[in-house]
This record gives sequence, C-alpha cells and structure tokens, in this order.
Amino acid sequence: MSTTATPLTIVHLRQQIARLPRTPLGHLPTPLEPLPRFSAALGGPTVWIKRDDCTGLAFGGNKTRHNEFILAHALQLGAEKLLWGAGVQSNNCRQTAAACAKLGLACHLMLGRGGHSDEIQGNLLLDYLLGATVEMVDLPLGPELYERIARRAEQWRAEGQRVYCWDNAIVKPRAAVSYALCLAEIVEQSARAGENPSAVYVASAGSTAAGLLLGKAALAAEIALRIVAPIRWPWDHAADLAATANQAAELIGLPAMVQPGDVQTTDQYLGDGYGIPSAAGQEALDLLARTEGILVEPVYTAKALAALIDDVRQGRLPSDRPVVFLHTGGTPALFAYRDELLRRGERGLTH
Ligand SMILES: Cc1ncc(COP(=O)(O)O)c(C=O)c1O
Repeated sequence: MSTTATPLTIVHLRQQIARLPRTPLGHLPTPLEPLPRFSAALGGPTVWIKRDDCTGLAFGGNKTRHNEFILAHALQLGAEKLLWGAGVQSNNCRQTAAACAKLGLACHLMLGRGGHSDEIQGNLLLDYLLGATVEMVDLPLGPELYERIARRAEQWRAEGQRVYCWDNAIVKPRAAVSYALCLAEIVEQSARAGENPSAVYVASAGSTAAGLLLGKAALAAEIALRIVAPIRWPWDHAADLAATANQAAELIGLPAMVQPGDVQTTDQYLGDGYGIPSAAGQEALDLLARTEGILVEPVYTAKALAALIDDVRQGRLPSDRPVVFLHTGGTPALFAYRDELLRRGERGLTH
C-alpha cells in the first residue's frame, strides 16, 4: 500500500481530522472484544468484534459515525431539511432520521422499493417513529435514485427551502473521514489489549471501507482490510473506494495515498444480489447468535462474517494473530426478513 512519506501518529491523524466540523452523535469509542465461543467453534484464530452496532441513536450502526461529519456540514451550510434516499430497509436513512431528530432538522426520505417488500417493519417502521416523511419510489438503489433526489432538492431550493441532500461527491468523503478514526480506534484498542490483528473484515459499499483504507495508509498500519461488497455497483468498486479515500484525505489536508490496486474487495459473498439473504450469511448469523448472543443482519454484516468464516475454514489467515470483524450495525432489518430467517421447517418451529 502506498503511504505518506512518514506515517502519521494517531494523535496527528486526529489533529488533521479536527479541522473538519463535527457534531457529536455517537457513543464512541465502541468496544473491541474477543469472541471466544465463536472462535472455538471455527477452530482458527481468535476473532474479535468491533461493536459499531453499538454507536447509539436508534439502534446504532456505521452511519452514526458518518453523520457526525455529514450533518455538521449540513448545519454549517444552514440546512433546515435533509433529503436522503436509499432502499426501503435502509439503515442509512433510519440513522439519519434519528440524527435529524436529535439536531432539530426535518428529514425527508425517498425510498426505492427495488423489488423488496414495503411492509412497515424494521427500519421503515423506525423511520416513521423518528418523524421522517417517507416517499416510496420504484427505483433500485443507484444512479437513477440519486438523480431523482438531486432534481427534487433543486425544486425545493428554487422554492426557497434550505435543503441538504444525499450527493455522493459531498457526502461520501465526509463519511469516510469518520472511519479513518475508527481504524485508529481499532489500532489503539488492539495495542492496549496486547494484540496485533492480521485483518479487519467489513461489509462496505463505499464510505466505510474508504475511511478504513485512508486510516490504514495514513498510519501505515500492518493490517489487511477485507472488504466484502453487499451490492454490485455499475462502477468499479475498488477504484471508487480509492477515490473516496483520497477525497477524504484532501478534506483533512493530507495527500492522496490510496491506489485502486491497494484495495482488496470481493463480491464473492453477495449471493443472489443486494438485499437477498445468502445461505452462507444465514449460517454466519446463526453461529454468532448461538455462540455469543450477538446478532448480525442478512444484507451486510452476515455476508461479511461469512467471508471471514470462509477464510478461516480455508486456512487463509495466520493462526497466531487475531482477526477483527467490524460489525457495522443494521440489526433492525432483521424484523423485515422474518420469513427468510425463520425457515420454520428447518428450525422445528411448532407455532
Ligand atoms: C449495516 C451496514 N453495514 C455496512 C454498510 C455499508 O456502508 P458504506 O456504504 O458506507 O460502506 C451499510 C450501508 O448502508 C449498512 O447499513
């Protein structure tokens, strides 16, 4: 991996990031803890979990970290309303609705059904409880939805409303900055525990992994990032992650330091597509739940955990160094996947 000429210290990285406006929202740092029964069941290296499902604000998750920087930017620009959009069970939208409630901003969500059920359950239920206005659209997650959001924002601005809307170019680098800090947390907490993890596993479609890549490059951390794609984008995922990481670097006054060739990303664990549970993900979900009492969800985190399990079983990880699973949250989606997850017959349910 290319790095800055001299690696930054964690203190220096934090100083650079302190140049950006930030609104405190999360319970940070999140715990980093070992999973002894899960690790024993797998029979490989000790697996540790970084509990970003515990960041706070309406069931937590990675967007609480992102929103500390994104919503600070919105407030700096004098926004009074956020216009966000994603899939119908978006964790991003639910956490953003919660952040808006806390900060006294209005929140309008444009949610794409993309072939999924729009039953009021899981994240969608929480969106309503958090006071967001919800508009359903028949678009998949991707460029068409982003264009629709941009057009609506323009229309509202022309009417005199101060709207801050989801715009990949503005939002993703700011979100990424928060995960450069998370990487620093992992390095610091591991060192304090006397551990030297070989890898971090994470589900990421964009900003989260971009931030981890930036943190790793800036600190020259000797830790592999295994990025598990939950979606297949119409663009080059590795190039997009590197570009976002370098835009984030620029925001905090650092040179570009991540090349697309540095990025280890895989869509091998996607299964049948975005938002569709996979068999390997369901096995991962069951194993973690039944050995540690911790839940992942089928769209993102179960698939990343399935990648980790596969690598342990295939002997791809050194046995003498621990490995970190970064739990990015999303658990309210579990309730929207009741039927797929129950598999009543297999679980011997009697009612
Ligand atoms: C639970 C969960 N994990 C991971 C991600 C991926 O985040 P990012 O697109 O920032 O990489 C998301 C995005 O919505 C998510 O909800």
